[in-house]
Amino acid sequence: MKGVLICGGTGSRLRPLTEIVNKSLLPVYDKPLIVYPLQILLNAGIRDIAVITGPEHMDQMAAFLGSGYRFNCEFAFKVQDKPGGIAQALGMAEEFAAGESVCAILGDNVFFDDISPAIAEFKSGAHIFLKEVPDPERFGVAEVLPDGQTVVSLEEKPVRPKSNLAATGCYLYDNRCFELIRNLAPSARGELEITDLSALYLREGSLKASILKEEWIDAGTFESLFRAAELVRNQRSNA
Ligand code: G1P
Repeated sequence: MKGVLICGGTGSRLRPLTEIVNKSLLPVYDKPLIVYPLQILLNAGIRDIAVITGPEHMDQMAAFLGSGYRFNCEFAFKVQDKPGGIAQALGMAEEFAAGESVCAILGDNVFFDDISPAIAEFKSGAHIFLKEVPDPERFGVAEVLPDGQTVVSLEEKPVRPKSNLAATGCYLYDNRCFELIRNLAPSARGELEITDLSALYLREGSLKASILKEEWIDAGTFESLFRAAELVRNQRSNA
């Protein structure tokens, strides 16, 4: 399995912090944000990782991550010319994936569950990780059967969410995802939505989910970035 770290977007809700610096390089307690999702890939035994970011941030991303030597992995860098969505960013890793399945993870997501074993066990179809949140309308929202694994509906930022389970920014797909991405149409916000890709797997009955127990942070706002730092600090002092 290959890893794809997606660090696109303009970070508009974090200005002026993101005026110059990519959101994924902002500090979360003692490390840049990107190190947390990267560590998940590394813990799952993934050593080949594509990093996708906009042209304005490629230099700082490569300057921090380097070849991968420091992290005992190898990075491939791909420029996403315009912010065209997470699915578009993932599509750019097709050649890199070379027929293998992928774990796509967003550079601004911090997980406190150990999801690495689930990543390492993935075989085929698609798998998403869900978390109960108080404000599901901000996210992709999944409805699941009582088994907590079978997804019955999935919608991007619904006005009336069918559940309070947010789709977090970690996605496992078999290699067919690249063909499926080619057939996606842009959403109302003009992006190729990762939720639409997962929904194609849902339609063919091969989308599975797991529900996270610990906290999960999409660090796209001042409050969530601050909260992520606080949780990491607590974790360090309890270790
Ligand atoms: C994206 C996805 C959304 C997901 C979220 C997780 O939202 O589109 O489905 O729940 O990441 O962080 P965006 O950050 O593009 O608003």
